[in-house]
Amino acid sequence: MPDGAQPVLDVRGLKTVFKIRGGEVHAVNDVSFDLKPGELLGVVGESGSGKSVTMMSLLGLLPSPPADVRGGTVTFDGQDLLKVDAETLRKTRGGKIGFVFQDPMTSLNPVYNVGMQIMEPLRKHMGMTKKQAAVRAKELLELVGIPDADQRLKDYPHQFSGGMRQRVMIAIALACDPKVLVADEPTTALDVTIQAQILELMKELQERLGMAVIWITHDLGVVAGIADRVVVMYGGQIVEQAPTRELFKNPQHPYTRALLKTVPRVSGGREERLEIIEGQPPILGASPTACPFRDRCDVAMDRCAHENPQRYDVGNNHDAACFYDARTGAPRDV
Ligand SMILES: Nc1ncnc2c1ncn2[C@@H]1O[C@H](COP(=O)(O)OP(=O)(O)OP(=O)(O)O)[C@@H](O)[C@H]1O
Ligand SMILES: [Mg+2]
Repeated sequence: MPDGAQPVLDVRGLKTVFKIRGGEVHAVNDVSFDLKPGELLGVVGESGSGKSVTMMSLLGLLPSPPADVRGGTVTFDGQDLLKVDAETLRKTRGGKIGFVFQDPMTSLNPVYNVGMQIMEPLRKHMGMTKKQAAVRAKELLELVGIPDADQRLKDYPHQFSGGMRQRVMIAIALACDPKVLVADEPTTALDVTIQAQILELMKELQERLGMAVIWITHDLGVVAGIADRVVVMYGGQIVEQAPTRELFKNPQHPYTRALLKTVPRVSGGREERLEIIEGQPPILGASPTACPFRDRCDVAMDRCAHENPQRYDVGNNHDAACFYDARTGAPRDV
């Protein structure tokens, strides 16, 4: 990946609110990040931190109401995806941007065989005949490492294991040669070994096909060896962003440092949790006027209760949203 290359996807100031009875949930607050061509970006954060809502917002996949994408720009192919017409968005989604979501709305349909489900985007987006689509569907199953592809195309989703179903969903997402693949990992359904296999497969495909990948997970350990760069989310915000090695070597945000202590070590096939982060995730009832992590933070100061820190550049393409400077061990002079 050439340094300074134009991003393939550029998200600025994204803000998404859900209107609920009696109020609002501020699920995504001023989220900005970019994705370089061919890059594998890991997005990490605990449950409810806004990972899925961020990705669904930028793909226009959230029903409105209750969702309201209130601000921001999402530049892809020279256009703002938040402003394009419905037809352009439909063509982009599932075409130039493939996605695999944990959401049931986008998962496999139990009443159609897998072959038909892989052929559908090929016919819809690529204008293939039934015969062409059948040939390509078989190639795609082979590409994602499903043996006996010819036979498997006739099988229904319930005849596949969880890991194999995930591969089928990746095959569908890859069908139209996307420039970008967004994968929201269904961590609950898959054990760590299978997750690791799927991620290995993604890395291999990313390198072979030259596409950029956004990989969403709870688990920093899962992205450690494979992502080029990592974005850490907490309470609907990006709290830290850095190239993977830099993040592990030099974690800046107290949340990231706490998260690193929870990275499980897999020994003898057993997963071992080292530590848990004490306290509760924030309630996202209003636009944040304080640091969302302050109640769980071991270096919080007065300022954190009435100011939400911006993301400070700490060098090496690394930034963190914290008033405490982990490099000096003192409050930031800003
Ligand atoms: N339809 C909805 N109505 C109201 N609030 C919602 C809705 N969907 C999501 N939220 C809220 O938005 C916030 C972010 O949710 P999101 O699904 O993005 O989290 P996540 O980081 O993907 O979590 P997980 O790791 O569990 O998938 C949460 O507080 C969630 O409760
Ligand atoms: Mg999610």
